[in-house]
Amino acid sequence: MLLDTYGRVATDLRVSLTDRCNLRCTYCMPEEGLQWLAKPQLLTDDEIVRLVRIATTDLGVTEVRFTGGEPLLRPGLTSIVARCAELEPRPKMSLTTNGIGLERTAVALREAGLDRVNVSLDTLDPETFQRMTRRKRHTDVLRGLAAAREAGLAPVKVNAVLMPGLNDQEAPELLAWALREDYELRFIEQMPLDAQHGWQREGMITAGDILASLRTRFTLTPEGQEERGSAPAERWLVDGGPQRVGVIASVTRPFCRACDRTRLTADGQVRTCLFATEESDLRGALRGGASDAQIAALWRKAMWGKKAGAGIDDPSFVQPQRPMSAIGG
Ligand code: GTP
Ligand code: 5AD
Ligand code: SF4
Repeated sequence: MLLDTYGRVATDLRVSLTDRCNLRCTYCMPEEGLQWLAKPQLLTDDEIVRLVRIATTDLGVTEVRFTGGEPLLRPGLTSIVARCAELEPRPKMSLTTNGIGLERTAVALREAGLDRVNVSLDTLDPETFQRMTRRKRHTDVLRGLAAAREAGLAPVKVNAVLMPGLNDQEAPELLAWALREDYELRFIEQMPLDAQHGWQREGMITAGDILASLRTRFTLTPEGQEERGSAPAERWLVDGGPQRVGVIASVTRPFCRACDRTRLTADGQVRTCLFATEESDLRGALRGGASDAQIAALWRKAMWGKKAGAGIDDPSFVQPQRPMSAIGG
């Protein structure tokens, strides 16, 4: 079990498969990209499957989410999913992606054992998309989403970050679209995780702003705390339900007290939190010949040191050194 001193148990593992990405979202990285990890620094497919096996068989992890960077850029993704699907007990598996390339891979991923996907899409307007991501790939994302739905990777969730002056007026339109297409939309408050350190608390679009904007067109009723569990999204029934909308308010309404996550970076470091200031080196242990039991012990020790919360809204908050694309979204 991965227990911390606040009594939280981590059962949800987020594995970053690469730090690279084919978009350049302004809230994430600069135009020129970043200094990517070199191949030898990345965990191999075998190393990833071994760590997922240790997490699921020895440490009580029941859900595994593959992230990045952009995880569809990892050549071995389908095979990693297939191998993890053979583990006993079999973890639930999901993917967080920008959707580019999903059109071609959705069926194979489903057949390999993937349960569901979350796709990032901030706007319905191709020009705003290009301004926000610096790439002309809007159509690819829409096609990827549709392919995921057709492949049965349900429920398909869509993540949208609202940025002042870019897409902050689009919340109701995005929701109307998601309801029509049968995607579960969640709005995410922008967090200080960009490589450029350009995040500004003032002017940031908050959960309060988002809900007010949605309520100009929809009736929202809270879904209730029991339903939320440890999920970061607070959810509302739209116009009486059954369809829902979520808000992930990491800044203004943090959910750290119910956090059930542990993270593995693409270069094999355990992080207790997106905002952790320390990492524990499992890759070094793996490559130094450590046994499964020794790796499990290192992982337990790392999680025992997990802090109470991220405290983004506290004056003493310090942004982590690594950006989100390197940590895993
Ligand atoms: P499901 O609800 O199970 O589908 O997963 P999820 O919402 O955790 O997954 P997803 O990868 O789609 O994450 C959505 C957003 O939640 C991310 O973009 C982050 O902004 C935020 N998020 C994910 N994990 C954490 C976390 O551990 N801490 C905080 N503060 N935010 C997180
Ligand atoms: N703040 C909030 N969400 C972010 N994402 C990437 N960077 C940030 C940030 N600074 C989102 C992406 C994707 C998810 C993995 O994280 O849009 O939906
Ligand atoms: Fe968990 Fe850290 Fe995210 Fe809070 S910020 S939910 S503690 S990972």
